[in-house]
Amino acid sequence: MFKTKIAGIGSYLPDNIITNDDLAQRMDTNDAWIQERTGIQSRRYATNFKETTTTMGAKAASVAIERAGIIPEDIDFIIFATLSPDYYFPGCGVLVQRELGITKTECGALDIRNQCSGFIYGLSVADQFIKTGMYKNILLIGSEMHSMGLDYSNDGRNVTVIFGDGAGAVILQPAVNEKQGILSTHLHANGTYAEKLATLSPGCHGGYHASRVETEIDYGFPDTPYGGIFVTEHMVKNNQVAATMDGQFVFKMAVQKFPEVIGEALKKNGLDKSDIDMLIPHQANLRISQFVQKQMGLTDDKIWNNIQKYGNTTAASIPIALCEAWENGKIKEGDLVCLAAFGSGFTWGAALLHW
Ligand code: ACO
Repeated sequence: MFKTKIAGIGSYLPDNIITNDDLAQRMDTNDAWIQERTGIQSRRYATNFKETTTTMGAKAASVAIERAGIIPEDIDFIIFATLSPDYYFPGCGVLVQRELGITKTECGALDIRNQCSGFIYGLSVADQFIKTGMYKNILLIGSEMHSMGLDYSNDGRNVTVIFGDGAGAVILQPAVNEKQGILSTHLHANGTYAEKLATLSPGCHGGYHASRVETEIDYGFPDTPYGGIFVTEHMVKNNQVAATMDGQFVFKMAVQKFPEVIGEALKKNGLDKSDIDMLIPHQANLRISQFVQKQMGLTDDKIWNNIQKYGNTTAASIPIALCEAWENGKIKEGDLVCLAAFGSGFTWGAALLHW
């Protein structure tokens, strides 16, 4: 059995910087509130008609491909994690394959819908394929264009201020050096709280889950099915098509599950918190990361946070942060790196690897 190594990494952030003051022009919020609660100072927004989740993913992928010393045609499987796909279907996996011009090989493309933990889930799937020898070059992308799906009215301000756009990508290969590579991945979910952080519409639920939300929602679905409608006029008129979040509940779960799953990964490998050289937590909220850092007893040089500049980029946040930490020389060959995420679903997970 091979271990899986990250052979190349890249990221892409759109040029358009949106500060907290910019958001305050559009909704009742302010820089002090946002920084105090989340640590975020700015985020990036993609440009409509020019950029999408797929094109940003492709740009990050191109960097990762070049750094891995391969060409696009060498890729034999694509995994794409996002909650903000270009289309309801097909997924971004096939779109990025087209964007990168690798349709000739007809390699498989898989889409992952695990929100903030999408990158860790994708990494785990890729790891299984590499370990068994099925694939030699897997492209894993996490990319999000949240800016198109946010509610810029006061109703959405608790969610909207948190999220930003961007992409990160890695090329995964069998490790030749046995001291390098993924040690283990750990995946968890609890669907009890599916509606605590969700975009409930558009969807094909016909209102079935309506009683799961605290204030039952009327989505305006008709009694009899009618073709091809994911979004009713009622949903659009009543502002039901943007993400909603019970922020305090999410916060409480996150600070519990992050240390729990990191501890599980360390225990599985007979390692201790003090063995971690770099923790890359999903950039959910700076306060969550700081809480986890304190719980783990990690010094400032053993954790990488960049949510201050980019906001929460969901599936993209880990590869963007990992790429930035590596580019800044903070991760060196042989270092023990821990990746950990928690988010909507709820789903959460961790991975331990030697760089
Ligand atoms: N600007 C100004 N005021 C605001 C804003 C805003 N953007 N948003 C909400 N408020 C107001 C509320 O209306 C409320 O006012 P009230 O007291 O008059 O009713 C007050 O601020 C407090 O609101 P809370 O929602 O209780 O604020 P809280 O301290 O919980 O902070 C936050 C909200 C930042 C969302 C916090 O709960 C949080 O960070 N939770 C974790 C969320 C998270 O990390 N999500 C992402 C992880 S999962 C993923 O990545 C998909």
